[in-house]
Amino acid sequence: MWVSVPPTQSHDRYERIFAEVEAPFAFVDLDAMWANADAMLGRAGGKPVRVASKSIRCRALLEEILRRDQGFRGLMTYTLAETLWLAEQGFDDLLLAYPTTDVEALGELALRSAASPDGAPIVMVDCPEHLDAIESVLGADAAPVRVCIDLDAGWWALGGRVKVGPKRSPVHTVEQAIALAREIEGRPKIELDALMAYEGQIAGVGDTPPGRRLRGAMIRFMQRRSAKELAERRGAVVAALSEFVELEIVNGGGTGSLELTSAEAAVTEVTAGSGFYAPGLFDHYSRFTLTPAAGFALPIVRKPSPKVATALGGGYLASGSGDPARLPSPWLPPGLKLDPEEGAGEVQTPLLGEPAAGLAVGDRAYLRHAKAGELCERFDVLHLVQGDEIVDVVPTYRGEGKTFL
Ligand SMILES: Cc1ncc(COP(=O)(O)O)c(C=O)c1O
Repeated sequence: MWVSVPPTQSHDRYERIFAEVEAPFAFVDLDAMWANADAMLGRAGGKPVRVASKSIRCRALLEEILRRDQGFRGLMTYTLAETLWLAEQGFDDLLLAYPTTDVEALGELALRSAASPDGAPIVMVDCPEHLDAIESVLGADAAPVRVCIDLDAGWWALGGRVKVGPKRSPVHTVEQAIALAREIEGRPKIELDALMAYEGQIAGVGDTPPGRRLRGAMIRFMQRRSAKELAERRGAVVAALSEFVELEIVNGGGTGSLELTSAEAAVTEVTAGSGFYAPGLFDHYSRFTLTPAAGFALPIVRKPSPKVATALGGGYLASGSGDPARLPSPWLPPGLKLDPEEGAGEVQTPLLGEPAAGLAVGDRAYLRHAKAGELCERFDVLHLVQGDEIVDVVPTYRGEGKTFL
């Protein structure tokens, strides 16, 4: 395994590197990304890490990551159209993590499954309707389509009155998982190959929210209890299913839970995506520290007063609960702040804080997105930096004309 040293990140350094690039632009600092990648492999404790494409959204970087180390194995994809496109581009070992009702794409998947029964993408199911949709496109002589059961990894407290975790799959108990697996067994054109359980309430929730000590303590309590409950339930589901099916894959986890999920004997692989770019929402975890690796630069276009620098663009909000943590965060020079009245604007973003006084029209400010892959929906290309130079400029999904979500 490689061991990378994170780079020193400063406004001056990036201004030198990007002197010839017109802002706004987005970039990935490869030294930081590889330091994050290596740290995540370490945290996965030797279990393979499936790479979440939704958090990368750049084909060239997905290829680089998979080439980097054998510990990165396969992609976790997010729509069937994307999955089929990646398969066409030569990617294999594809696990689509979210169910689909796209009948046209399912038709294409059926063709691909016939051409490559063991290597076709695996798609997610959690109810008989998903199985019906798959069967609806299969002819009498079709090869089986490979599926994965999505097991709800949420934590149910107070006898089920409080449910913590992503609201996705209705399959929560061992009995429900067996019932769905038996349903699949009764359908000869569908093959159950995998189980996935994503514990978003652990992997995707930072346990040291800034300025909120009590909330942090509550999150840590919830995560400890949830991890223990899930380890037992996931193990029991895998044991029960293994009585009558051979599961190729038992997937779990995300950037925020690699060390916890990979320690479970029943889990064969973990997933990570966000940790490569290390966006703002991943700054507040007690279990690890990542190096910011993706950012965007905005030009300062006006000075409404000597202490305020107003940038062009910047309103790239992250999906989710709509709280202020979903706003982009001013990054370099350090100490810049968003204006609480205006936040990050559709075309203008005023920047406050001490360093704003030192920014002149024509300078640039550097910001980070709160989430990972969504940055790539705003820019056609990513400038890749290594050492003190731009080593490549590669298209994002959007730059390839691919806007899947
Ligand atoms: C099914 C699934 N697995 C894993 C992840 C973790 O991805 P990341 O490492 O990008 O947070 C997610 C994120 O939402 C997910 O939906």
